[in-house]
Amino acid sequence: MTESVSSAKAQRYPIDPDIRSRAWLDEAQYHEMYQRSIEDPDGFWREQAKTLAWFREPETISRSTFSANGTDIRWFEDGTLNAAWNCLDRHLETRGDQPAIIWEGDDPADTLTLSFRELHARVGQCANALKSLGVSRGDTVTLYMPMVPEAAIAMLACARIGALHSVVFGGFSPDALAGRVQDSGSRVVITADESVRGGKHIPLKDNVDEALSREGTEIVEHVLVVRRTGGEVAWHDRDRWYHEVVDGQSDECPAEELGAEEGLFILYTSGSTGKPKGLKHTIGGYLLYTSMTHRYVFDYHDGDVYWCAADVGWITGHSYIVYGPLANGATTLMFEGVPSYPTHGRIGEVIDRHGVNILYTSPTAVRALMAHGEHIMDSSSRDSLRILGSVGEPINPEAWSWFHRVVGNGRCPIMDTWWQTETGGHMITPLPGFSEIKPGSAMKPFFGVQPALYDNEGNRLEGEASGNLVIEASWPGQARTIWHNHERFEQTYFAMHEGVYFTGDGARRDADGDYWITGRIDDVLNVSGHRLGTAEIESSLVAHEAVAEAAVVGYPHDVKGQGIYIYVTLADGVTPSEELRKELITQVRHDIGPIATPDIIQWAPGLPKTRSGKIMRRILRKIASNELDGLGDTSTLADPTVVEELIEHRPR
Ligand code: WTA
Repeated sequence: MTESVSSAKAQRYPIDPDIRSRAWLDEAQYHEMYQRSIEDPDGFWREQAKTLAWFREPETISRSTFSANGTDIRWFEDGTLNAAWNCLDRHLETRGDQPAIIWEGDDPADTLTLSFRELHARVGQCANALKSLGVSRGDTVTLYMPMVPEAAIAMLACARIGALHSVVFGGFSPDALAGRVQDSGSRVVITADESVRGGKHIPLKDNVDEALSREGTEIVEHVLVVRRTGGEVAWHDRDRWYHEVVDGQSDECPAEELGAEEGLFILYTSGSTGKPKGLKHTIGGYLLYTSMTHRYVFDYHDGDVYWCAADVGWITGHSYIVYGPLANGATTLMFEGVPSYPTHGRIGEVIDRHGVNILYTSPTAVRALMAHGEHIMDSSSRDSLRILGSVGEPINPEAWSWFHRVVGNGRCPIMDTWWQTETGGHMITPLPGFSEIKPGSAMKPFFGVQPALYDNEGNRLEGEASGNLVIEASWPGQARTIWHNHERFEQTYFAMHEGVYFTGDGARRDADGDYWITGRIDDVLNVSGHRLGTAEIESSLVAHEAVAEAAVVGYPHDVKGQGIYIYVTLADGVTPSEELRKELITQVRHDIGPIATPDIIQWAPGLPKTRSGKIMRRILRKIASNELDGLGDTSTLADPTVVEELIEHRPR
C-alpha cells in the first residue's frame, strides 16, 4: 500500500488554518525545537522536566548506552516523584471539579463522570486497600479488567504506593493470563465478575479461576473482584469483592516519594520468538514523554474533551487513556463498548454526547465502520471534533480518507502516530501545526527521537531510502528492560545493529525526509492492530497431537490489516478434516485468546525448507498473500516441489 506511493506523487493534505493557528507549535517552531532536542538533549529535557511535579528535581538528565551487552537506560535518575500525584493531586487546586474521567458503558445509557477530586479519593481508597492486602513498593499487581473506571483507579493506586501494575488485556485466555501472572510474580490480581462488550458478557472471573488453577500461579494470595454485571461467579478463599475491601478505606493515602527510575508498570507484548516479554517502564521518563506527546501531538488545551478508543490492556491505553492525559489535567473518555453496538453510529453518538474534541483510534476500527457505508454517521454531527489520531498499523489511503472525510467532516487532520509498546509514546508523527500532511505517512520524529534507516548489512542509509527502522539515541519514554530478563532485552533490540535500538519495523524516507512505515520485518503479526508472535501461535498448534509441524504467516486482510494464515503438516496417519480444522482453531483461541483466531488453515504435506532445514517463511508469506510472481529462487530448497503443491492447493 504505502510502499508503492512515491513522495512526488504522494497526496498532500493542507491542515486547516484555524487548526494550525491554534496549535502549540507551527512548523518552523517544531524544526527549531527539534534541532535543540538533538543538539542539546540534556538542556532540552531538563527544561521539559519542569512540566512535571517533582519531590526532588533531577540534576542528572540522561545516561544511556545501547549495546548488545551492556544496555543501560536512565533518565532523571536522581529525581523523585510520584505518577499518581502528577495525575491527580497537583490538579486538585486548579481543576478539582473538572471531569477527569468520563466513562460510557457498553449500554449507552450507562455513564459516569469522575472529577479529579473524586478520582483522587477513589485512588486513595484503592491504594489503602492494596496496602491492607500487603502490597508494597516494588511489588507487582496483575489487572485483568473490563474498561471500567476501576481499571484506571487500580493502575493509579499501584502508582501511588510504588507497586508496578501488569495489565493483561481482557481478551487473553486463561492460559495467556496464567503465564503473565507467573512471570510477573503478582500476589494480587484485580478483575471483575464479567466484562460486557457489544451486549455480550465475557467471564473474566471464571478465566482468572482457570488461570489460577495452572501450575506456577500459587503465588497469588488475593483476587479482588469488581462487581460489574452481577453475573454468577464461583468463590474461593482468596477472593474478595472489590467494593467490600475498598469502599470502607480512607480517601487519604500519601503518595510515595519514588525514584524516577523505579518501575511504574510491566506490560507484556509479543516478539518474533519465544513467550511474550514483560517490558518494564519507569516513572519519570515515561510520564514526561507521554504527557508531552499527548499535549503536542493532539494539540491538547485546557478544557478539551479527549477520547482514546483503545483498551487499557494495551500500551495505547496506558499512555493515552491514563497517564499522558491525566498528567496534563485532561478530561479523558473511557469507553467500555464497541463501535458497532447498539448501532454502527455509536462512535459519532459518543462524540456528540460528550463534546469530544480529539479522537484517537485505529485503522482497523475505521475499516470496520467503512464496510457499513457513510450513512452510519448520519446519527451524529461530530461538530466538536478538531483532531483525529490513528495508531497501531499503517493506515491505507481508503481508510485515511474515510476517517478524514466521513468521521472528521473533512475538517480534522489525522495524526498518524507510529510507536510501540517499547517506546512508551509517539515516536514519528505529524503535528497539528504542520502546514500539510501526507496521508499514509507518519511524517517526522518527535522531539529527541533520532530515527535512521539501516540495510541488513548494517549500513546507515542516507537521503531517500528504504530499510530497517532504528533509533539512534535514547528518549525518556523508552522501556528500560524485559522483566527479569535483561539479556533478552539486549538481544532483541540492540544486537541487530550495534549501538542503536532496532524497532522491528521497516520504513521508507522520502525526498522531504518524511517517514512511511511499511510494517514489521520480523515474525510479528499485526492483526487488527494487535501484536501477535508467530512463534506463540505455532507452539500452540504443535502441542496438538495431530500436528507434526506448523508455520504461521500474515496476509493482507481487508478489515484486520493482517489475517492469520496457517500451514499445518499433520502427523503420520492423520487425515485432514473440517472437524480437525475447528479443533485447531479452538486450541489457539484457548492458548492465546480470541484475538489470535486463525483465519485460514492450509493442510501442507510439506513445508518449503532450505537444505539445512530452515523453513522459508518468505515463500510462505508470498503464497498466503497471492503474490506468486515474486517467489524468488526456489532452487535452494530441499524439495522445490512442495511449493507447487502449496500453490495448487491454496484454500482460496
Ligand atoms: C505497528 C502500538 C504503522 C508497528 C502503539 C509497530 C504502526 C507495532 C503504527 C507496535 C503506525 C504502530 N503506522 N505501523 N502509525 N503504529 N504500528 O507494541 O509495526 O502494540 O512496531 O504498540 O505496531 O505495536 P504495539
